[in-house]
Amino acid sequence: MKRRYIFNKKLYSQNPEKITKSYDVAVIGGGMAGLFAALEIDKSKKVALVIKGGLEGGSSYLAQGGICCVLDEKDSFDAHIKDTLTAGAGHCDEKAVEVMVCEGPENIKRLIDYGVRFDKNCDGTLKLTREGGHCARRILHCGGDATGKEITKALGKACEERENIDILWNTDLVDILTDENGVCGIVANDKCNDFIIKTANVLVATGGAGQLYRYSTTPVGNTGEGIAACFRAGCELSDMEFVQFHPTAFAIHEEGERLFLISEAVRGEGAVLKNKYGEAFMSREGNHPLADLAPRDIVTRAIIDEMKQTDDTKVYLDTSAMSAGFFEKRFPTITKKCREHGITPSKDLIPVHPTQHYLMGGVSTDLHGRTNVEGLFVCGEAACTGVHGANRLASNSTLECVVFAKRAADYINANFRTAENEISLGKEPYYIVSPDSSEMAADMCKLKEIMTEKVGAVRKRSELETARCLLSDLKLKYSDCNFENEKGYSLYSAIDTALVITESAINRTESIGSHYIQD
Ligand code: SIN
Repeated sequence: MKRRYIFNKKLYSQNPEKITKSYDVAVIGGGMAGLFAALEIDKSKKVALVIKGGLEGGSSYLAQGGICCVLDEKDSFDAHIKDTLTAGAGHCDEKAVEVMVCEGPENIKRLIDYGVRFDKNCDGTLKLTREGGHCARRILHCGGDATGKEITKALGKACEERENIDILWNTDLVDILTDENGVCGIVANDKCNDFIIKTANVLVATGGAGQLYRYSTTPVGNTGEGIAACFRAGCELSDMEFVQFHPTAFAIHEEGERLFLISEAVRGEGAVLKNKYGEAFMSREGNHPLADLAPRDIVTRAIIDEMKQTDDTKVYLDTSAMSAGFFEKRFPTITKKCREHGITPSKDLIPVHPTQHYLMGGVSTDLHGRTNVEGLFVCGEAACTGVHGANRLASNSTLECVVFAKRAADYINANFRTAENEISLGKEPYYIVSPDSSEMAADMCKLKEIMTEKVGAVRKRSELETARCLLSDLKLKYSDCNFENEKGYSLYSAIDTALVITESAINRTESIGSHYIQD
């Protein structure tokens, strides 16, 4: 069921009319979806590619595991579709899943044409690995466990070489402008000034909202700003209660830092989860038949239970089934991280625990990335295409990024909208208070605490209600504020997104996939 949330507050505060740039298309986001979409827009169109920091600042850059694609002759589209629907707990949009799976191979070929070098076997065929919930080896990877980094670097280079694409680095999306015909531009901020980009075609690919939680594998800027901006522009959001917790983040970390992921591909290559007594708890009788490779929501809850039973804050990955040489070559990034902490994989156990990783919900889109606002498209983690249902299958997110970015770009090319009207900013800014930034930082910590303690992997109805009250208080506190920097936009968007997740979780009364109600 899709729910509609209404929001009418505009966030920009300065006088952005002063600087106006015109483009045919604005693509927001420097991850796989944004870069691929920008490249697929017709070369005759002038594209503004708005990137918050650098390429390394997005979630795509960090993706370790890989990208799914049915390539092995023993595998089939039907099998991949079935695994996706099973992991999604019956909540996926079947048509969208079919599109994603069946259009995988042609998009992998396009990635290769753009310069992506996937890992290969000695005979030149592409290497395929396995991850949780997959019945076959169908995950391509690059640089061992550096898939996201290699793909974003290759696509970023291709974008830089394109004459029709202007990359606006270090630029934040502040708000999306609409008039009676649909989208008519965006307000952006280059860390100094707000300015307008006038365009009638906007594609948002800004990622998810992992940093609403105290512990997340996602980058620091991942606070749901793109989703919140679409929401304010009148977009429908769907499935926001479905937040994925990855079972195996590295358990050694500093407070406040992004958690390092120990890829599910490590279990795909034979590692086993153990408790502090050395018991391989996922293969206990009565557990899921795929044991360590069960879908993520199931492994996550089993770990949380095991940590409780054994009075421990972590469990352990036993990688001794792999030789040291194999592990280092296959997982160079993970090996380096472990060594920095005195852990030698394949000899020592790797301590891990579940942590926030992905948002299945987002802005509702159709099979072309279209939202309910004319001219506004959303792709990647910020979108809810329906392919992930209530729990995403490993390495389907990267595939979704490219398949739906290509479809959205094709749609924009075929149905190009021309910006005709002068942009009117509507009502004057009416904000009065400029909040103190140390107070904003404290409130961001408070928000993370609320989400972590009350809207996590295992939820209770009473706690969800308390979370809603606490978040509503925060929203009220900032409702008349004039934000002068990106921290302000970030906090404001974070409060909105957190509230939507919490309200959606309250509205969904049954447990399904990643939304698990204990009471
Ligand atoms: C992983 O490598 O375990 C993460 C892959 C994903 O999120 O799909």
